[in-house]
Amino acid sequence: MVNPDGYPDYCLRCIECGKEYDIEDIYLCKCGGLLEVYIRGADISFKLDGNLEGVWKYGSLLPVKTNPVTLKEGSTPLYRCRRIEEMLKNAGVNVSVYVKHEGANPSGSFKDRGMTVGVTKAIELGKKAVACASTGNTSASMAMYAAKAGIRAYVLLPAGKVALGKVAQALMHGARVIGIKGNFDQALAIVREICSSEGFYLLNSVNPFRLEGQKTIAFEVVDEIGVPDRVILPVGNAGNISAIYKGFKELERFGLTESIPKMCGIQAEGANPVYRAVKSKKEDIEPVLNPETIATAIRIGQPVNARKAIRAIYESNGVAEQVSDEEIIEAQKLLASKEGIGVEPASAASVAGLFKLAGKGVIENGERIVCITTGHLLKDPETVINICGKPVEVEASVEAVRSAL
Ligand code: F0G
Repeated sequence: MVNPDGYPDYCLRCIECGKEYDIEDIYLCKCGGLLEVYIRGADISFKLDGNLEGVWKYGSLLPVKTNPVTLKEGSTPLYRCRRIEEMLKNAGVNVSVYVKHEGANPSGSFKDRGMTVGVTKAIELGKKAVACASTGNTSASMAMYAAKAGIRAYVLLPAGKVALGKVAQALMHGARVIGIKGNFDQALAIVREICSSEGFYLLNSVNPFRLEGQKTIAFEVVDEIGVPDRVILPVGNAGNISAIYKGFKELERFGLTESIPKMCGIQAEGANPVYRAVKSKKEDIEPVLNPETIATAIRIGQPVNARKAIRAIYESNGVAEQVSDEEIIEAQKLLASKEGIGVEPASAASVAGLFKLAGKGVIENGERIVCITTGHLLKDPETVINICGKPVEVEASVEAVRSAL
């Protein structure tokens, strides 16, 4: 059965025991398993015709029933990266490389796709406040959408470990921002308790509705170039890789596509539980207790969506890989200086991962590959200044400037 008003017939379903729920105000199954939105039926009203119209183009596969709280998110650019292709070709790997730049969203990260759905759901459920723990981008995005919706926003951050641009956003959009003397994983555990005691709506990626918005990354890729062979992206709390995989799977299930790309998750060496689990062919992670990486966005040791992400990797015949901070910075510089794409360090992990996988012979000639760059360069100006150094300063004269050219 399909609902009459254009939205799909859906429920929440446990990824472990399969139990289905028609209530929506829950985050976990009674058995403790993660929930996902299961679309039982839909009248698909969009065409995959190459015209991007933002997240809500795909409303007939998005589980909300009211007018969306939107800041015109999505429709991010997909760039063909010829210079990167050339470099890979010189190393003997002949592939097409695209970068989907999620930094071009309103708050500068892919989180906006999730928040337009998540905050709309908060309003639908009558919530007066939303909350999250964050390495930065989730908080910036949530604060922005809460402002648009006119509800309160509470943010828990690992103190001193969040890039400045993101803190600035959360503050200016009016969130109550609290730094904890601990890491992201601890902040998430605390905010989950606070949400259940205070009645706040939790907008971390354990919230299955938020991930529904993020699946539109897959829809947009297919809209523009069809199904690629491989998608490579950074993994932190492991929500995005799960969401994008779900997007590809849904298109296939509804008969719009016939294949699924290999999902490749890239982690930083110092925060690599998913990589280690996949390497040892396990379904569960062992937490990394003191995660550390220059890519603070993915400085996460106990990703809440690990089981969804690991399944996405196994089911799609994908891989997990780890990259060093040096490799991340090198890829960030390469994207910025050779392709004109400005990304924050975590985002560059995708391209660092591409080179690593190519070097290991994982990638086959002829593949069409999409790397997702998840956040904008301006999110983390401090790291950039540390890498590039400050601009030179000279006297205010033509001669001085000429000698400094
Ligand atoms: N890239 C960026 C720029 C991020 O901010 C994040 C996550 C990721 C990649 C990883 O995505 O968690 O879905 O695997 N940032 C979260 C935050 C944790 O709080 O902003 P994931």
